Amino acid sequence: SAGRSAPAKKHMLKLIILGDSGVGKTSLMNRYHSNKFTGQYKATIGADFLSKHVSITDPQTGAVRNVTLQIWDTAGQERFQSLGVAFYRGADAVALVYDVGDSKSFDNLENWRGEFLKQVGLDDKGASFPFVLLGNKIDRPESERRVPRERAEEWCERAGLGGEMGGPIPHFETSAKTAENVEGAFLELATLAVIHQ
Ligand code: GTP
Ligand code: MG
Repeated sequence: SAGRSAPAKKHMLKLIILGDSGVGKTSLMNRYHSNKFTGQYKATIGADFLSKHVSITDPQTGAVRNVTLQIWDTAGQERFQSLGVAFYRGADAVALVYDVGDSKSFDNLENWRGEFLKQVGLDDKGASFPFVLLGNKIDRPESERRVPRERAEEWCERAGLGGEMGGPIPHFETSAKTAENVEGAFLELATLAVIHQ
């Protein structure tokens, strides 16, 4: 309206990857950022970020936005989690990761989501914060799958219900090893961050 300009759009978007130790958070980030994968496991200590410049089309306006994604990879191991609120503050979107072959990592999603929302003071508005759910290690044998796709999608329906983002949390089954769906998942995450800000 007259006399009021739209708020400046952020150039830098802070994305955070959360989930249990060993589900593949670091591997997903490295695949997306550098298109690299290693089978060796080295636990993340604390948190670290990588930056990536991307062009995102805002689906609501059609405008193309050049943004820098600051992708924060976090430690899944409890003894390395000492960052807390200062770290979560200012997050524009969060990727929650589980391993499709590990039901415990799926059961813990609620804790990761809840703890994040508590830290940023959004306990009661969780449905309006942009999350994306990634079920990783889809390259492993189907016989080792422990989390059916439908189970994850039900969770996404429930967690996203009533949110202003409209509809369920987007869900991707990914492989950091083969790169399947990794680009698409991060693109969705970045797009939600652009819409939400
Ligand atoms: P923390 O840093 O302890 O929280 O673990 P993380 O979630 O960062 O897991 P990380 O990326 O270090 O991966 C753990 C192990 O799983 C490593 O040996 C990876 O090589 C392996 N891994 C990661 N993603 C995949 C995948 O998509 N497929 C397969 N087969 N292995 C994977
Ligand atoms: Mg890691």
